[in-house]
Amino acid sequence: MLGRERNRHLAFGVGIHRCLGAPLAQMELRVSLAEWLARIPEFGLAGPAAVTWTGGNTRGPVTLPLRIRRA
Ligand code: HEM
Repeated sequence: MLGRERNRHLAFGVGIHRCLGAPLAQMELRVSLAEWLARIPEFGLAGPAAVTWTGGNTRGPVTLPLRIRRA
């Protein structure tokens, strides 16, 4: 289950230099998540301890082992 409250995040920056590609990036994310959920509705972490993260300002998982069941 994916869940997140609406919030005014700064992922695409703010002000006059706010990301020009934000609408494209958000559409690509919507499409890829919809396709993933249609094909692989059941999935979860194989082991939370196995997830590793990048450091620095741009944060994201480096390894994300999943257990999946195909539809
Ligand atoms: C998840 C994907 C993306 C993220 C997280 C992201 C994030 C950002 C952020 C934080 C900035 C502001 C940088 C600053 O304040 O100096 C920025 C600027 C910018 N982004 Fe993105 N971006 C993404 C995708 C894209 C895409 C797909 C494009 C183009 C097709 C794009 C084009 C630009 C451009 C041209 C700027 C400079 C805007 C300016 O300086 O006025 N970005 N992006």
